[in-house]
Amino acid sequence: MNEWYRACNKAASIIRNAIPGTYRSRTFSGIIGDIKALPSKKALSLISRKKGLGKQYAYLYLTRGIDEGRGYQACTTEALASALGNKRKVFIKGNILDVGCAVGVTAGILNLCHVTGFDLFTDLLQTAKLIDSLLNRENDYVAADMTKTWPFDTIFDTVVCGLVCHHLKTQSETASFFSNVNRVLKPYGSLIITMPSGSISNISNFNKVTNTIKDFGFKINSECSGIVLSDDSTHSLFWMFLITAEKVSDEVGSIFISPDFAFPLYRTPVTREEKGKQARETVQKTRMVRHEYFKFINAVDLEKRVSNRTLVYETVSKL
Ligand SMILES: C[S@@+](CC[C@H](N)C(=O)[O-])C[C@H]1O[C@@H](n2cnc3c(N)ncnc32)[C@H](O)[C@@H]1O
Repeated sequence: MNEWYRACNKAASIIRNAIPGTYRSRTFSGIIGDIKALPSKKALSLISRKKGLGKQYAYLYLTRGIDEGRGYQACTTEALASALGNKRKVFIKGNILDVGCAVGVTAGILNLCHVTGFDLFTDLLQTAKLIDSLLNRENDYVAADMTKTWPFDTIFDTVVCGLVCHHLKTQSETASFFSNVNRVLKPYGSLIITMPSGSISNISNFNKVTNTIKDFGFKINSECSGIVLSDDSTHSLFWMFLITAEKVSDEVGSIFISPDFAFPLYRTPVTREEKGKQARETVQKTRMVRHEYFKFINAVDLEKRVSNRTLVYETVSKL
C-alpha cells in the first residue's frame, strides 16, 4: 500500500472521533446524492448547517472512495495514471490546478507537487491538509465553487478535473466552467478530464462533450482521449471517460451550448425512494478492480467499435 493510502487511513481514524453520533450512519452515496441533487449554494448551506456532516463525508471519502486504493475514486485516478502511461509527465506538468480535489486525491495518488486544489467543502480540504501534514507535503487548498468565477489568474500549466464535470447541472454552469478553465490555463496548457460511467449515454454524447471543449479553445488529444475499461476476470463495474486536451486559443466569445448538451445520463434521484434504491445498489456492488486491469480505448477506436449504440456497461464489457 502506498504511503498516501496509509496516511488516509490514519486521517480517517483521527476525524472519526469528531463525527457526532447522529451522522455516523449516513452513507457515502446518500451524502453524495444530496450534494448532487442540490444547487451548489444549497449543498454548501446543508453541509454548513448540519455541523459534523461534512466530517462524515470526509471520513466516508477516505474509507469508501479511497479505501486503500479499492474505492471508485482511487481506482479512477489509478486508471488515469495507467492510461496516460509514460505520457503522464507531458500532460500533467508544472503548476497544477485540481478542480473538485476532495481530500487531495489527484495529488496524493499521482504523487504530485505544486498542486492547488479547490473544492466546495472545507471539511474535505481540511482533511487534505491533514493528510499532507502526516506526510510532510505541502499543497495549497482553497474553498471555492466551480460553478462561479474561479479565484485564480492565468497561472496554471495543467487543470485536472477528476470526476467533477458531471456535477455541472446546467448549460450556463457548463459554459462558465470551461471559460474558467480556459482563463486560468497558460497557452498550450493541459486539460485533463475524467468522467464516471453513467455521465455519458452514447458516443454522440461523448462527441458533444469533446466538441464543446474544442469550442472553448482546446485541441483534443485523440490518442489519449477515450474510455478506460476494467478488463479483470470479474468484469466488475468500472469504466470511465478520459479526455486530454491542450489550450490552443484564448479567444472564447459567447458560446452557445445546445440544450441537449451536458451529461444527459446523469440524473439526480428525485425521490427519497429512488435515492434509497440507488444507495442500496451502490453498496451491493463489489469492486474487484485493480489498476493493472485497466485498458484504454481511444476516442477513434471507440467510435468505430460501438458506433452510436447506447453505452451501458454490458455493451462495453463485450468490446
Ligand atoms: C466525485 S468527487 C471527485 C474528487 C476527486 N477529484 C477525485 O478524482 O476523486 C467530486 C468532487 O467535486 C466536489 N464538488 C461538487 N460540486 C462542486 C462545486 N460546485 N465546486 C467545487 N467542488 C465541487 C465535491 O465536493 C467532490 O469533492
